[in-house]
Amino acid sequence: MEIRKVGVLGCGLMGSGIAQVAAQSGHATLVREVNQGLLDKGLASIDKFLAKSVEKGKATPEQQAAVKANLKGTLKLEDLADCDLVIEAIVEDLAVKRETFGALDKICGPEAIFASNTSSLSITEMMRSTNRPGRFIGLHFFNPVPVMKLVEVVRTVATEPAAVDAAVAYVTRAGKTPIVANDASGFIVNRLLVPFILDAIRALEEGVGSIQDIDAGMRLGCNHPMGPLTLLDFVGLDTTYYIANIMFDEFREKRFAPPPLLKRMVQAGWYGKKSGKGFYDYSKEPPVPNNALVGR
Ligand code: CAA
Ligand code: NAD
Repeated sequence: MEIRKVGVLGCGLMGSGIAQVAAQSGHATLVREVNQGLLDKGLASIDKFLAKSVEKGKATPEQQAAVKANLKGTLKLEDLADCDLVIEAIVEDLAVKRETFGALDKICGPEAIFASNTSSLSITEMMRSTNRPGRFIGLHFFNPVPVMKLVEVVRTVATEPAAVDAAVAYVTRAGKTPIVANDASGFIVNRLLVPFILDAIRALEEGVGSIQDIDAGMRLGCNHPMGPLTLLDFVGLDTTYYIANIMFDEFREKRFAPPPLLKRMVQAGWYGKKSGKGFYDYSKEPPVPNNALVGR
């Protein structure tokens, strides 16, 4: 089955990138948000990225115009009726995702493939809210979507091989590299990454090192592009907190448990870069470590 029209649910950090990549690879793309303010914000972040690419000479104004022409926004779920593939990138909450997929199932044709960008939830459990078990998969993109090469294609025991093939072909056409994983919480990458970033918080809590030194340790000692505390701010501390709780519920292993400091920061509304404060304070340029966190 050829994917021509792509629907994206959510135009936040991930949804905006997923929509951009779909439109850039020549697909008619429709992204749905819950209110006009959030939709405008997400589309503006795409515009900004496209304008920068033209400034840097990496894209022509004609290419920029073609991407914009492929990309539309909506507030109505019904507008996604004729999509061949719908990729969901909304809040990491099973009940909200199930409710949205259940409603969408009645709107889209039976051939349409539904995909979730979840970081940690069960694809099988989401699939059960629809009547298309064979055509329900995970498509796990990485942040920032326009830059990161990988997409995990996640199959459940009920996914039809043809749906996996169509998803792999779509990911490849979108310029990404697919890897196939079975439906286990966190799939391949977050199974390994989440305990690591949570351990960085535990190291900070236990006073092993300062915010800067923990980050510098992994940047300079292991050549990571950003330190784990910077990465946490980048992913979003609210999203990481959801992910940790879900993975801990699944595996009951301490390495997935959200550290108390993460919980306190989320309670305080410190979600990282997107809210202006997390392990770093982004009101300063360059951002400065939020040393109030560790009382020093
Ligand atoms: N959106 C779009 N493009 C972006 C971007 C963004 N948010 N941030 C950076 N870029 C682009 C820049 O425009 C630049 O493009 P050009 O090469 O064309 O100029 C390029 O990326 C490199 O950016 P910079 O030079 O500004 O900065 P950098 O070299 O430090 O790279 C980075 C930035 C790519 C984010 C890099 O720091 C990095 O790879 N960090 C690690 C990211 C990572 O681990 N992501 C996975 C998160 S976990 C996840 O996603 C899974 C989950 O379920 C939680
Ligand atoms: P985000 O908070 O930036 O964006 C979520 C957006 O979804 C919000 O704008 C919200 O208004 C919108 N939304 C909520 N309910 C909606 C609905 N019913 N229909 C349409 N839009 C709705 O979150 P995010 O970081 O983009 O994460 C989205 C998903 O992607 C989560 O499942 C997350 O686990 C996953 N993910 C996140 C990252 C990351 O680094 N942040 C990486 C990979 C996967």
